[in-house]
Amino acid sequence: MSQTKLDAIKDSALTQFKAATNTKALYDLKVQFLGKNGSLTEIMKDMASLPKEEKPLFGKKVNEVKSLLEQVYTETEEALKKAEIEGKMASEELDLTLPSYTRMAGNQHPVYKVSEEIFAIMARIGYSVRTGPLIEKDYYNFEALNIPADHPARDMQDTFFIDPTHVLRTHTSPIQIHSLESEKPPLRIVGTGPVFRCDSDISHLPNFHQIEGMCVDRKVSMADLKGTISFFVREFFGPGLKTRFRPSFFPFTEPSAEVDCSCPICKGKGCSLCKQTGWIEIGGCGLINPKVFHNAKIAYPEWQGFAFGFGIERMGIIKYGIDDIRLFPENDVRFVRQFLP
Ligand code: DAH
Repeated sequence: MSQTKLDAIKDSALTQFKAATNTKALYDLKVQFLGKNGSLTEIMKDMASLPKEEKPLFGKKVNEVKSLLEQVYTETEEALKKAEIEGKMASEELDLTLPSYTRMAGNQHPVYKVSEEIFAIMARIGYSVRTGPLIEKDYYNFEALNIPADHPARDMQDTFFIDPTHVLRTHTSPIQIHSLESEKPPLRIVGTGPVFRCDSDISHLPNFHQIEGMCVDRKVSMADLKGTISFFVREFFGPGLKTRFRPSFFPFTEPSAEVDCSCPICKGKGCSLCKQTGWIEIGGCGLINPKVFHNAKIAYPEWQGFAFGFGIERMGIIKYGIDDIRLFPENDVRFVRQFLP
């Protein structure tokens, strides 16, 4: 009786194992026949009713069926797994020609890049960077720089007033005064940061950036100023560029000059960037006016100095041939991405 039952279990298991179409179904069958509460475990319970001498033989047979089923299970499982993987590979075809998701890397804004280049050049000749407040007292922006109230020189810079005694700084020159007041000469500094003017057209921004060089030492001459600026222009724009100094006026320098460099685009021949003149203005400079030293309580002529101020966007325009200054604050990634570090 038990033998017949055992044979029936064996046959049923083998047929069903072979008919299983996936590994999950096959596993369920394994539980059904070989599991803790499966058919083979059940049939062992029948042993109790068998005559004593038949028990070992029947036990052996049950074990044989068990190993056979386990072996068939393993083989079937392997075959099904292989078929499943092959099926998956056939259905989930990978198209390597599809465009991938692109992730843009960040990069430096041209104002930042030009500033860093300038600082690196100036650092080589002993200059270190300073910043200052963007909202300045009238005193630092004008008065201390020898631009008294009602002085016509104030018309040179269209000022945003915060209140009657505070302005958005119109230039980085107030950094000169902060440095003279808080540090001891000799000094070699480059002040830098944003400046603000009520002015906006194709070549002017209401918010742009400047660098301000200042050197204060025992004996400083116009020759030192010219040598420093010529060195800087060659290092920044490239060798072979000429520097030109035109007499000018700034209240905080005496004598004063405007600095031009030969146009790096046309090399002085004349083009649209330099308006056919072969020269491009980059900023102002001069020997520090004794009145400025006096205002900052620095002994003159014991200490003397020169200073210069350049527009950072302007330098970027010249160096990289950018044709509209308004591109700088627009934050258009197509523009900014052209200035990879
Ligand atoms: N601060 C001036 C401006 O913004 C530029 C300038 C001219 C700065 C002469 C200087 C200088 O330090 O010596 O127009």
